[in-house]
Amino acid sequence: MTGPILLTGGSGRLGQELRQLMPDLIAPPRQELDITQPETLTACLARYRPAGLIHAAAYTNVAQAETDRDLCWQVNVQGTRHLVQATQHLGIPLIHISTDYVFAGERGNYREGDMPGPPLNYYALTKLVAEEVVRVHPHPLIIRTSFRPRTWPYPVAFTDVFTSQDYVDVIAPDIALAIQHWADIPDDTLHIATERKSVYELAQRRCPTVQPGSRSQARVPLPADSSLDCTRWQTLKQAWSLAHA
Ligand SMILES: NC(=O)c1ccc[n+]([C@@H]2O[C@H](COP(=O)([O-])OP(=O)(O)OC[C@H]3O[C@@H](n4cnc5c(N)ncnc54)[C@H](OP(=O)(O)O)[C@@H]3O)[C@@H](O)[C@H]2O)c1
Repeated sequence: MTGPILLTGGSGRLGQELRQLMPDLIAPPRQELDITQPETLTACLARYRPAGLIHAAAYTNVAQAETDRDLCWQVNVQGTRHLVQATQHLGIPLIHISTDYVFAGERGNYREGDMPGPPLNYYALTKLVAEEVVRVHPHPLIIRTSFRPRTWPYPVAFTDVFTSQDYVDVIAPDIALAIQHWADIPDDTLHIATERKSVYELAQRRCPTVQPGSRSQARVPLPADSSLDCTRWQTLKQAWSLAHA
């Protein structure tokens, strides 16, 4: 891809990791690019003339979204709509970062083509609607993923919630690889995560003192098993590594 790549959400957990891995990414701060204010987006696209856009900005506080619905919708749905409208008009390809929470989590091991929903909480609803907004774009790539900060942030982790999420410093290099190979990805949806495990098992890897808990303790309904089947991603990665061997 020739030309700069613009990143939204560059100050976030994932965005900061991506910027370290890909220092050429252009990541305007919110004062310069507020996705709820379309005129700031138009100005940025004219200023940087990006060859592609990575959309990692979102309202991500799952518990707070239950009561802060208007802002969550404005950022996750309307903000994404502004990006789609502006980039499709200029023929700029778009990568949208989505979540495993688009699935209800009744059975896990979800493949890209599986029907999402019904969403279990308001954040998940907005992320699912945002995916459908993005599918209007002629060159979309929706990356569904899930990650935690580098260190486990809570005293408790749930033994009865299953996930393929991982720590952000494990997930971000794969997302950076996907960005680098963007032109070689034939699909419009890609699951990037690691193997299925309980959240407790994941937490123990970096916080051996973490206590076991249950999802019944959560302040908001959470999917029981939102693990993602990542075969498509693993196959692509293997093909690229063979091509470079
Ligand atoms: N964290 C997870 O567990 C997880 C799991 C699956 C998928 N995801 C998805 O991954 C992506 C990145 O998540 P994250 O955890 O890295 O996010 P985060 O740490 O919560 O950061 C959110 C980012 O979005 C920006 N943002 C919020 N509202 C904005 C607006 N109106 N205009 C411009 N920027 C705005 C924030 O900017 P400010 O610094 O200015 O607030 C920040 O850079 C999101 O799409 C999220 O849905 C996250």
